[in-house]
Amino acid sequence: MTTSSTTKAVLFHELGGPEVLEVEEVPLAEPGPGEVLVRVEAIGLNRAEALFRAGTYYYPPTLPGSRLGYEASGVVEAVGTDVTEHAVGDAVTTVANFDFRDHGVYGERVVLPEESVVRAPAGVDAVTSAATWLTYSTAYGGLIETGGLAPGDHVVITGASSGVGTAAIQTALRAGAVPIATTRGGAKRQRLLDLGAAHVITTESEDLVREVRRVTGGVGARLAFDAIGGPGFAALGDALAPGGTAVLYGTLDPRPVQLSLNWPQTVHTHANGITSRDASYRRRAAAYIGSGLTSGALTPVIAEVFDGLERIADAHRLMESNTHLGKIVVRV
Ligand SMILES: NC(=O)c1ccc[n+]([C@@H]2O[C@H](COP(=O)([O-])OP(=O)(O)OC[C@H]3O[C@@H](n4cnc5c(N)ncnc54)[C@H](OP(=O)(O)O)[C@@H]3O)[C@@H](O)[C@H]2O)c1
Repeated sequence: MTTSSTTKAVLFHELGGPEVLEVEEVPLAEPGPGEVLVRVEAIGLNRAEALFRAGTYYYPPTLPGSRLGYEASGVVEAVGTDVTEHAVGDAVTTVANFDFRDHGVYGERVVLPEESVVRAPAGVDAVTSAATWLTYSTAYGGLIETGGLAPGDHVVITGASSGVGTAAIQTALRAGAVPIATTRGGAKRQRLLDLGAAHVITTESEDLVREVRRVTGGVGARLAFDAIGGPGFAALGDALAPGGTAVLYGTLDPRPVQLSLNWPQTVHTHANGITSRDASYRRRAAAYIGSGLTSGALTPVIAEVFDGLERIADAHRLMESNTHLGKIVVRV
């Protein structure tokens, strides 16, 4: 790639809280072979970026001057040689199948491999588009493809107020399954019910295993979709029906994961970023999301929209307050 101009981007030079995020002018390379240049219109925030900034993500930043950001919507402004699937003017959204250190999308313009963008869903604006791919593809991949969710299944969705969790509730309903949502305190209980959760368990004051047994008539859940991990993963396993499945996709609790001895059960992990490197998976996920948005079965839940890259630290503060429900978006 050759450097031809500059762009604004968010960087951080040391590990820390939201205050370490800075907007700076950085060199912008021209797209090389197989790459596209995207003018970013909106950025969808993910917990991964807060963990990365704090140094607790599963890979470390390269300091000083690390970029970050998985998810953005925008328009293709230029393409390199050998690009076959995208053209100048295409509305696209990024697929989080890359490393932040190479392609962090918190910026006004970013260069990405063409397999790291997909066509934006038809008929949605840039803010909605930035809140769509990662949440729904993670829910679709984890619940439907990995978890084999079927009509009538009870599924426990932990951290259900998160971007992925809200998408998972809608995905479960679309499958004809029965979503059981968890949240730590009671503040989001009603909003989760309004979103379609059949039951809500507040884990700070209710016993998860007892509640799941109660609402499933003593049987247990067929599936658990877990953002948290840690020692609590064993309780999720205890709440499964015989032969049930737990899909672990996040580690909000950084402590070691503990397994249940409520056998037989199957434990899967789901890493959407890795799965999304496969073009056929991207096609299936895009078709699932596109048809769901069109029918109205999938309606992205947007917690708050911040205007301007300069608001990125405020957006991270909201994420770390854990008062949000759904996706936090920054309009660029
Ligand atoms: N494997 C994958 O492909 C994949 C894809 C996307 C995201 N993820 C992972 O999924 C997790 C959620 O990401 P997100 O961006 O959707 O999250 P998010 O929107 O930031 O929401 C996370 C929610 O989880 C709850 N929570 C936060 N810290 C917690 C803790 N220590 N223990 C228990 N609950 C906690 C909070 O809800 P309450 O206050 O209501 O409890 C919070 O609102 C992250 O670990 C992320 O890295 C993985």
